[in-house]
Amino acid sequence: MSRIVFLNGSFLPIEEAKVPFMDRGFMFGDGVYEGIGVLDGQLIDNEAHLERLERSLAEVRIRNPYSRTEWTSLQEEIVRRNGMTEGFIYFQVTRGVAERDFFFPENAEPTVAMFTQAKAIADAPAARTGIAVVTVPDQRWARRDIKSINLLAQVLAKQAAKEAGAQEAWLVEDGFVTEGGSSSGFIVTKKGSIVVRPLSNAILPGITRKSLLRLSEEARIPLEERRFTVEEAYDAAEAFLTSASNFVLPIVTIDGRSIGDGKPGPVTKRLRELYLSMARVPAMAAE
Ligand code: PDD
Repeated sequence: MSRIVFLNGSFLPIEEAKVPFMDRGFMFGDGVYEGIGVLDGQLIDNEAHLERLERSLAEVRIRNPYSRTEWTSLQEEIVRRNGMTEGFIYFQVTRGVAERDFFFPENAEPTVAMFTQAKAIADAPAARTGIAVVTVPDQRWARRDIKSINLLAQVLAKQAAKEAGAQEAWLVEDGFVTEGGSSSGFIVTKKGSIVVRPLSNAILPGITRKSLLRLSEEARIPLEERRFTVEEAYDAAEAFLTSASNFVLPIVTIDGRSIGDGKPGPVTKRLRELYLSMARVPAMAAE
C-alpha cells in the first residue's frame, strides 16, 4: 500500500502529490508547520498544537485555511488511511504559489501539505539507553517562537551533532542553552528540581514542554523556570529533552561528559512514565 498524504484538499498516494514550482514554501521558506505525536491511534495534545499553529499563522500573516474541527478530521483521516497507530503527523501551510516576489501575493491560496511517519515512540530504544547531545552556537533568527519551516540553522546544528556521534544538538546563546535543534531542553539539579528556560522569542513554546510542566506540578516535583548555562548542564544530576515525536527522552552525555552517573535518571524516568500514562488516557476512555 502506498503512503497516503494530504495536499490542498485531497488525500492521494505520495507519488502523485506534487507542489507547484513557484510555491513560496519552496522558494522562500514562507510557511509554518506543526508536528503531533500519535499513540494508540490517538492524537496527543492536539488542541494545543492547533492553537500554536493558529498563532504561528497569525504572526506571519498567512490565512488559516481550516477550523480546528476541520484540521482534526483531516488528521484523523490521514492516520486512518495509513493505518498508523504510533508515530508522527507533520503538516505545513505556506503562503501559496505566485511569481517570485518578496511582497505578499494578492490572490494566492495557502498550500496545505500533511503526511504521517510511523515510529515507535513509547518503546523507543533511546528511551532506555538515553542519548548523547553536543552543544553548538544558536544561529537562528530572532522569532524562534514561530514554528517556521525555515530550518536551515537546525539542519546544520543537528548534522554537526550527528557527525560528533550525538543524536541532538543543544543550541547555545550567550553561554545559556536555548533549546534543542528540534526539542525543548531540561536539566535536573542535584537537589531534584527541574530547570527549564522560560518562554520568550528565543525558543519555541514546546507543547510537550507545556504538558510536562503541568505533570511535574501535579506530581509536586520542584520546578525552576530560568535560563541555565552549559556548565550547569554538565554538572546536573540529569538532563532530558521533550518533543512531540519523542515525548520525554533522557540525555546521558553532553559534549562527551557523562551527566549524573551516565544513565537515565529517576526524575526523567518518572516524567516519561507520567507523560505516557497521560497520553494513554484518551485511548482507554474511548474503549
Ligand atoms: N520539533 N524546539 C524546537 C526548535 C522544535 O523544533 C521542537 C519540535 C520543540 C518541541 O516542541 P513540541 O513539544 O511542541 O514538539 C522545541 C518537531 C518535533 C520537529 O520539528 O520535528
